[in-house]
Amino acid sequence: MEVVGIDVGFGFTKAYNGKNSVIFKSLLGDATDIQFRSLLGDESSTSNLHITFEDKSYFLGSYAEMQSNIRDFTLDQEKLIENFVKIFAVAAAGICTDTLAPINIVSGLPVGYLKRDSKKFKEAIRGTHEITFHNNDGKDVTKRVTIDKIHIIPQPIGSIFNLIFDDKGKIRDKSLATQKLGVVDIGFKTTDFSIFDHLQYIERGSSTMDTGISKCFSVIANKLRQESNINIELYRIFQFIESGMIKIRGKEYNISNLKKRVYTHAAAAIASDLNRLWENDWDIDSIILSGGGSVELSEFLSPNIDGNVIPIGKNIDARFNNVQGYCKFGRYKWGYSKYISDTQQEKKSTKVKKASTADDKNEAVEPSEKEDEKSDKQSKGGLSWLRRQN
Ligand SMILES: Nc1ncnc2c1ncn2[C@@H]1O[C@H](COP(=O)(O)OP(=O)(O)OP(=O)(O)O)[C@@H](O)[C@H]1O
Ligand SMILES: [Mg+2]
Repeated sequence: MEVVGIDVGFGFTKAYNGKNSVIFKSLLGDATDIQFRSLLGDESSTSNLHITFEDKSYFLGSYAEMQSNIRDFTLDQEKLIENFVKIFAVAAAGICTDTLAPINIVSGLPVGYLKRDSKKFKEAIRGTHEITFHNNDGKDVTKRVTIDKIHIIPQPIGSIFNLIFDDKGKIRDKSLATQKLGVVDIGFKTTDFSIFDHLQYIERGSSTMDTGISKCFSVIANKLRQESNINIELYRIFQFIESGMIKIRGKEYNISNLKKRVYTHAAAAIASDLNRLWENDWDIDSIILSGGGSVELSEFLSPNIDGNVIPIGKNIDARFNNVQGYCKFGRYKWGYSKYISDTQQEKKSTKVKKASTADDKNEAVEPSEKEDEKSDKQSKGGLSWLRRQN
């Protein structure tokens, strides 16, 4: 059974199955008729996302940003779950995986919405979905995505699992598994705080705040509107942030200083939330910064945090931390060796067109795989709280 980690964030939808990574802006648009397509430009699998799903056609992500007449995104949790999650999750899974067999999903919700929205989230994505990808070369590919088991965990815990587990879902860092860890996941809309102590999730130190990067973008957009009279949609600001320059109607605006001021202010707000929330958790061993926003804020944030902050790796795209952790956790939970033997079986059955027999199911398991399964079972005790949510 293949495991796909899916993270439908307010800024970006991410998916990872251990092999393929998918990312697109969580932006939905109407599909327009494009009469001329240049073959130049970005050819990545998510740059021209045109899909048909449940009898409606959409552009997704940057394609919607560029080509759709009506573009829709949300910073509202309820709307995200009701209007967007199903389309984004199925599209992301459809791009990520090639298997025809049912897949299992691990996903996350902001800590503050875990209880309220888990059921709705599962109901939205469970089952068999048909989705057509309209490729740039005019070829349509229809995929059937069947989602079997779904496990939802607090979003920031994905980042901790990403550090603790290896790709096979085995605990690779035993020292982290015996520590008290704090994680700060700074996303587009939310900042999620969570504590994980000796592999136990600590509800008390976990919370969701509305201090994501979009707040900073709002301030920048307001300032630009005052100066240029143009209303800039928040999801269009990403591309100007790094250079610090934005050109509006031919006139250049330098937003570097404003960005610095706004980020300093945001980092101070996050640090003060953290210090208040974790006031009594002075025994945290390490603090992990995660989420795309942490890349931008870390230089402003780290000096304000008292504690051992694990620096963000330079070559890492921190937007993927959660989703990679989801996939690793899924392999831990449902067994990597089972996934491998399922894949081999799937390959076999497509190569040799014979009716499947009971022999296939009883195929000898390699001794090392047996060992793996045994150690899986032994180590699962510590994470029993996660299994209860099934
Ligand atoms: N290469 C990049 N392109 C665009 N944004 C980036 C990039 N690298 C980091 N970022 C930052 O990542 C942020 C989005 O991070 P992330 O994908 O973790 O958020 P999200 O999960 O969509 O949001 P939320 O957790 O609030 O739902 C952006 O606001 C931006 O500041
Ligand atoms: Mg996020």
